[in-house]
Amino acid sequence: MGIKESLKKISLARTLNTHLKARDFGREKKFFLENYMYSKPVTKEKLEYSLLYEVHGLEKGFAVREGQRPFGVNRVKMIIKTLNTYDECGFDQGFAYDLAQSALCEYCKLYEEKKWAEREEYQIVSDYLRDKKCSKKHSVGAYDLQRESIKKDASVDYDKFISSRKSVRNYSDKKLSERDIEKAVGIAGKTPSACNRQMCKVYYIESIEGKKVIEKYAQGLKLFALKNANYFIVTFDVSSNYFVGEKNQGWFNAGLFTMNLMNAFHSLGIGSCPVQFGNTFREEEKIKELLNIPQSERISVILVAGYYDEISSVPYSTRKPLEEIYKKR
Ligand SMILES: Cc1cc2nc3c(=O)[nH]c(=O)nc-3n(C[C@H](O)[C@H](O)[C@H](O)COP(=O)(O)O)c2cc1C
Repeated sequence: MGIKESLKKISLARTLNTHLKARDFGREKKFFLENYMYSKPVTKEKLEYSLLYEVHGLEKGFAVREGQRPFGVNRVKMIIKTLNTYDECGFDQGFAYDLAQSALCEYCKLYEEKKWAEREEYQIVSDYLRDKKCSKKHSVGAYDLQRESIKKDASVDYDKFISSRKSVRNYSDKKLSERDIEKAVGIAGKTPSACNRQMCKVYYIESIEGKKVIEKYAQGLKLFALKNANYFIVTFDVSSNYFVGEKNQGWFNAGLFTMNLMNAFHSLGIGSCPVQFGNTFREEEKIKELLNIPQSERISVILVAGYYDEISSVPYSTRKPLEEIYKKR
């Protein structure tokens, strides 16, 4: 083959490659538009995230300390509308549903205390609650946090704790206890999330077939001692994103969540290492199908974990000096 022809072939291959990458991006865009909060059809998840979103907006009104005025008129109307849709669809009542009803109960209570009961929004909420049991199933509204208690509870050597965590790639043969996993995930659940929508989930891939799926698709497992490795997948649900500007919200929230999960593991003697998820969209869909992960979720990262071995040989991974990461403008 002549030079000219070879160059032509290389150029063709490059164009094809760019086209394939663009197609992968296109699939992600389509997925977002087909699954975000206001896409059709209505699902339980979309309604639940919408409720969490509105409840959080309402809670901020409860937390106003000075000059509190009647608040949340549109929010309570939206919450009632969403709760009614939820009932019409016949979905099982879950946490978000109960939280929203608790929020409406607290709203009425506050309006009564403040002598705002003649207002239209109070009437709308109390009409809605009339034939419902107004039990406070969950803490909702606002409370006062004391500086002294923050000082007391936050007095740990955080730098020492954070500095002692390293990504480890070999693990002891002790089986992970369900109690420790649940404790760690519970701690990670305290991670802040945008409008408190709590869009992240953790899947513990326990079965042999599941582990095989991870080992087939995960990139970046090359230098691990996989014998005692346990796999977790952190996902977020696109149903929680309420407009196109939130197209990256899930990734950011999953990052915060995963870091807290890793630190929670660390506090329990469990070492971990994130493994980047750089698969194509098609591969991601396949993995979700094989691991029975709901369709509207996206895989953000795979976490390899296990109790710390006697010795873990780890790279220094020296950090940049402060002046390279901290700037004033
Ligand atoms: C999002 C993310 C993806 C990562 N992917 C991999 C990976 O695929 N394989 C791997 O061996 N380490 C991976 N790591 C681990 C990093 O190499 C490691 O966190 C970094 O060098 C800092 O070291 P340290 O965690 O020990 O402080 C990843 C870390 C993060 C945060």
